[in-house]
Amino acid sequence: MKLRNRILAGTGLVVVVAVAALVLVLGYTAPCEPAPGLSAESTAMKAIDYRCYGSPEVLALEDVEKPAPADGEVLVKVHAASVNPLDWHYMRGSPYIMRLESGIGRPKVTRLGVDFSGTVEAVGASVTRFKPGDEVFGGRTGAFGEYIPVREDRGIASKPANVSFAEAAAVPIAGVTALQAVRDKGKVEAGQKVLINGASGGVGTFAVQIAKSFGAEVTGVCSERNVEMVRSLGADHVIDYGTEDFTAGEQRYDVIIDMVGNHPLSALRDVLVPGGIVVMVGGPPGDWLGPLINPLKALFVNPFIDEHFSFFVATMDRDDLGLLADLMAEGKITPVIDRHYPLSEVPDAIAYSEKGRARGKIIIDVQPPARNPWTDAAKRGVSFRALGNEPFWSLEIAPGRLTMITDSGQRRTERSYEEPVVEGATTTYRSLADDGEIVAVIERSPCTDSMSGEAFEATATVMFGGTTYRGCGRFL
Ligand SMILES: NC(=O)c1ccc[n+]([C@@H]2O[C@H](COP(=O)([O-])OP(=O)(O)OC[C@H]3O[C@@H](n4cnc5c(N)ncnc54)[C@H](OP(=O)(O)O)[C@@H]3O)[C@@H](O)[C@H]2O)c1
Repeated sequence: MKLRNRILAGTGLVVVVAVAALVLVLGYTAPCEPAPGLSAESTAMKAIDYRCYGSPEVLALEDVEKPAPADGEVLVKVHAASVNPLDWHYMRGSPYIMRLESGIGRPKVTRLGVDFSGTVEAVGASVTRFKPGDEVFGGRTGAFGEYIPVREDRGIASKPANVSFAEAAAVPIAGVTALQAVRDKGKVEAGQKVLINGASGGVGTFAVQIAKSFGAEVTGVCSERNVEMVRSLGADHVIDYGTEDFTAGEQRYDVIIDMVGNHPLSALRDVLVPGGIVVMVGGPPGDWLGPLINPLKALFVNPFIDEHFSFFVATMDRDDLGLLADLMAEGKITPVIDRHYPLSEVPDAIAYSEKGRARGKIIIDVQPPARNPWTDAAKRGVSFRALGNEPFWSLEIAPGRLTMITDSGQRRTERSYEEPVVEGATTTYRSLADDGEIVAVIERSPCTDSMSGEAFEATATVMFGGTTYRGCGRFL
């Protein structure tokens, strides 16, 4: 064999052995390790942890050390988090190529979750953007836990006052991805025809609203059960993929934002105008290349065509978070929330996300949501009991009816009420019978009874029979 052929054969062998070794190493999954104990002097908090790759059973709610904010960091008390496909990619270490970053054999970082909203609890030295008590949202690994330290110059922004913690937690990854896909990669302009494949999911529901706010004519693609929801977000046209294949239609698009990756590149190109753009956001799952297959093909195709296939990984940009906060505050985008899970049920939430049928965002209530007298009463009726300026009085709140019980249970007075007005933490009940007279104002705020010293969750002011009763109370 000539020397040149020997060198070629030897090089080829080395490449094959190296690739085989990489495949073996990347595909190796180490067994789970037990949780390390907490040191006696550390303060504990609850968080979801995982010490090996695998299905949602590898996730556990554990006591872990509560972090302290370092220089330049804020410590956020997390109120809500949201689930993204990224979370289960990390949980499974899949596609395996990502283990080069997340850890070979087992995860390097054992905390999960990225999207959070909450309140700044403490700030480290040199922090200037935030102060304790500020309401914030953003993205940082470890969001499925009670506290999270975040660098003030990274992915964190102020939460608008008129946006709930759950809505804010829905935004970071999905909202920023949609914004960067529409604005930076798709370069969407007013009047352009934009198709959004996967319009009913986390990214898609934001992409429809953002493309509309840019003045585009938007077509959303989703299953039949989500057609009306996608239309309600502002989509001009909605295609049910169960009955119609958009790549077989006559319509041509300037930009396709693709969250699903279920069509060949040639089929997508067929429905682009000349020079059009496909933004490849997501693709089918798979341990080896999975969502990376279409982007890899695009590398070879792009140099030979006028159209452009653009793959990107979104970056958690604080200015983009700020822009999304402004759009939410102005009511131009509204997060779509599919369902809520408590922190202890993150494994169920992730299993639901893995099915790939989420309708908007899946929220994790890290702090149990504050109780709302109206929604609670409307659902099942509640009893609100307060101590006040009589030895004992209580107020029953049932759907449509308030009952005041005074004189140690001797006297009952009833009022029918209009639908209560809920503003922030305050709920106001107006009487139906007495020309809209306010009969009760209940405010969710800590309250201590002056006689007993007992702590309550709400302050109540009740106007019945010409007397005003004030007291501290709780929902029973
Ligand atoms: N590149 C990045 O930086 C980046 C960032 C975020 C997310 N991603 C990726 O983008 C993808 C979407 O993320 P996501 O958060 O929106 O996920 P998601 O919330 O889980 O979205 C699931 C949605 O996909 C829809 N869907 C399933 N099959 C479909 C089909 N054949 N045609 C059209 N829609 C279909 C479902 O709608 P129906 O129930 O109506 O079928 C569901 O609403 C994922 O692959 C994710 O990993 C990438």
